[in-house]
Amino acid sequence: MPSYKQGIAFRYIQGTKYHRDRPMRDDLGSIPATHRYKNYPDAARVQLPQPDLSRPADLWQCLARRRSERNYSSDPLSLDDFVRLLWAAQGVTARAGSHLLRTAPSAGALYPFETYLYVDRVEEIPQGLYHFNVADFVLERLKEGNFNRDITAASLKQPVVRRAAVVFIWTAMMLRCMVKYRDRAVRYIPMDLGHVCQNVQLAATAMGLGSCPIGALFDDDINQLLGVDGEEETVLYLITVGKL
Ligand SMILES: Cc1cc2nc3c(=O)[nH]c(=O)nc-3n(C[C@H](O)[C@H](O)[C@H](O)COP(=O)(O)O)c2cc1C
Repeated sequence: MPSYKQGIAFRYIQGTKYHRDRPMRDDLGSIPATHRYKNYPDAARVQLPQPDLSRPADLWQCLARRRSERNYSSDPLSLDDFVRLLWAAQGVTARAGSHLLRTAPSAGALYPFETYLYVDRVEEIPQGLYHFNVADFVLERLKEGNFNRDITAASLKQPVVRRAAVVFIWTAMMLRCMVKYRDRAVRYIPMDLGHVCQNVQLAATAMGLGSCPIGALFDDDINQLLGVDGEEETVLYLITVGKL
């Protein structure tokens, strides 16, 4: 087995360190506003109700109760709960110039990722693969149908994925972050996604739902399912959600 110092992990950590005598970052150009978030203009749009944020939840209790749950019932999620999860992940909470600030922090407010959903069982939403359009708070339908088998197989056949009512799928948009931070972007993108995933898990806890982050997956099988190239845009992380 190669030692840590001979492998790619070591080179990555060393090669992406900031040093006082090296440029910390250089803007290699600005990101056109149209590249700040993706949309699928030809896809059918599923309008979503505004999330009802009036129900109180105690943050300390949610932190204390948060757990990765892997057993879900076969009941569908309510549309209300589903939109609250989406809002927790990527709801727009303020505008700063052309930036749409969200529920989770992101280096440089670049949000270099996209949210896709495999909806298995959500009331009023047909089964299928969707992209979440952040700016308009709508779903864009990529493929209608049952993809439970495909997404489970692509997640190393983990039963938690098969049992999920919905799977959030996050891809990294490499260039959106690299334009500003170059190779250090590879540190920032997973940090950004960790915040987003935790938001979803805490929201699920607040609503009495089960959830489980998933990092073990066959990347290119999921990329293929989504129709993304696996290079400039590539899957990084999932979270399953279901009723307990
Ligand atoms: C980056 C990351 C990847 C993970 N991947 C998986 C996974 O593929 N399958 C799984 O069952 N749990 C996965 N988990 C969940 C962890 O196993 C879980 O967080 C850990 O056991 C601690 O338990 P807790 O979340 O209930 O506190 C992952 C968690 C993180 C943060």
